[in-house]
Amino acid sequence: MTRIPKTGATVGILAVLSLGGGLLLAQPQNGGSRAHDPGVRAGAVNAGQSLSTLSAEQIQFFQDGQIRFMEVDSVSGTIPGEPGKGLGPGFNSNSCSSCHAQPFAGGSSPSANAYPYIGPNPQIRVASDASALNTIPSFITADGPVRETRFPFVVSPGGRLTQIPDGGVHDIFTITGRTDAPGCTLAQPDYELMQQLNNVIFRIPTPVFGAGLMENIADSTILANMNANALLKRRLGISGHPNTSGNDGTITRFGWKAQNKSLEVFTGEAYNVEMGVTNELFPNERGNAPSACLFNSTPEDFTHFDQSGTELLSDAAGFSTFMRFLAPPAPSTQGIPGNPTAQSIQNGGNLFVQVHCDLCHTPVLKTAGSSLTSGLSNQNAALFSDLLVHHMGDGLSDRVSQGAAGPDEFRTAPLWGVGQRIFFLHDGRATPANGGLLRAIQAHAGQGSEANGVIAFFNTLSEQQKQDLLNFLRSL
Ligand code: HEC
Ligand code: HEC
Repeated sequence: MTRIPKTGATVGILAVLSLGGGLLLAQPQNGGSRAHDPGVRAGAVNAGQSLSTLSAEQIQFFQDGQIRFMEVDSVSGTIPGEPGKGLGPGFNSNSCSSCHAQPFAGGSSPSANAYPYIGPNPQIRVASDASALNTIPSFITADGPVRETRFPFVVSPGGRLTQIPDGGVHDIFTITGRTDAPGCTLAQPDYELMQQLNNVIFRIPTPVFGAGLMENIADSTILANMNANALLKRRLGISGHPNTSGNDGTITRFGWKAQNKSLEVFTGEAYNVEMGVTNELFPNERGNAPSACLFNSTPEDFTHFDQSGTELLSDAAGFSTFMRFLAPPAPSTQGIPGNPTAQSIQNGGNLFVQVHCDLCHTPVLKTAGSSLTSGLSNQNAALFSDLLVHHMGDGLSDRVSQGAAGPDEFRTAPLWGVGQRIFFLHDGRATPANGGLLRAIQAHAGQGSEANGVIAFFNTLSEQQKQDLLNFLRSL
């Protein structure tokens, strides 16, 4: 019997833990209670504010960008409450902040369990919004994470799995049936077939708090950090390398595989991929939808040369500014369920270093000088990532390659803000119901994982020490 914290609530429930793959090791009891993830830190939301150093004018652009980030898009912009324009023909959701929501606009996947006012998984709602006729696939559930899907390999028109790599994002929903898309008929992907063929993988949203700091870390800083502690890393089997842009050769750093260069590029791509809104960065409609499903001229989002000030900007420019100026999440020892002592959290921070989590999750990287604001300039960004990709073994492999990141390689996930997150790992497999952070840590171990040595160290900790480490993570 293990105590499973119910996210956001102070009362836990007793239940038997049964985990696929037997990844959660049954440890000998130490002091009675077994270590558990205390759950989403309650109390004040410590993320979503702007950097404190912005000028009055920059604050104006930040706020404008935030409003755009939270705006709901429809096909034509004519549905009440959905003023944005350009949704579809394929899409995964209808607003940036529907997916980037927890614990505030810019964050990661929301859940019905954690904050009831956010409501259930927004993908349930958008499936039938404006009378759309989508089927909700089995992997989208009310209390599960927001997901996007990729297909590792191409499936032939006859439904046969080939060995030709696909790897791209396939939109879950279409605008078929929506009142603002008359005459459009476009089928969703055949997820039943894809699941039968074991040819669908998932990605959950990565939070964008502190994204401007991440963007402004010099390549030389990332490489110097990569080369530090070389002997210890080699002994533990940790290597890691940057993912790089095929265009200018610099280090890419956004996304689960560090596949994307900048906030602006990610934004343009996300607007077209997640919401189907063509824009000046990605001006063409995706897929080969019939013309009856294409309702707008392209790009659907553009610079308004007939306007001035914030009105002049495209949404894409507004989103980027908003994200670039978002402050990093502030750590806190307040509001952690179970009230761990400050001492426990401090012990946990020390143990994080002692078992060498920090060899990948680098606590601090310094940013370069910034021409935008002092808050981005020569700052110690406490992101807990080396921004490199590492082999994480067969258990985490998603069989998708992106740039220099191979099938089982992922960016060391930045840990700032995990204290207020619900779902963990690239596909959201670690949930409040199956162990949360503890499950996420155990899943690092697997055949071919660079983290095996460190996880073996972690497994030698006493239950109290593991608890301290989990309490520390929930303070971030
Ligand atoms: C359907 C849900 C969904 C919507 C809507 C969405 N995103 Fe995302 N976002 C994701 C997922 C999933 C990822 C991780 C993708 C990956 O790495 O494969 C992500 C990652 C990102 C990242 C990378 C951050 C990092 O450090 O890795 C940025 C930036 C981003 N999104 C911006 C946006 C913007 C701007 C919008 C609105 C135009 C948006 N997203 C809309 C799901 C969504
Ligand atoms: C070899 C490098 C490496 C080591 C060592 C390592 N991690 Fe990670 N960590 C990663 C990578 C890469 C991911 C993302 C994996 C994925 O999503 O598939 C990750 C993900 C996580 C996550 C989930 C974060 C999220 O955004 O979902 C947590 C929590 C975490 N690590 C904690 C730890 C702790 C605690 C330790 C030490 C016991 C540790 N890690 C050791 C590389 C490492």
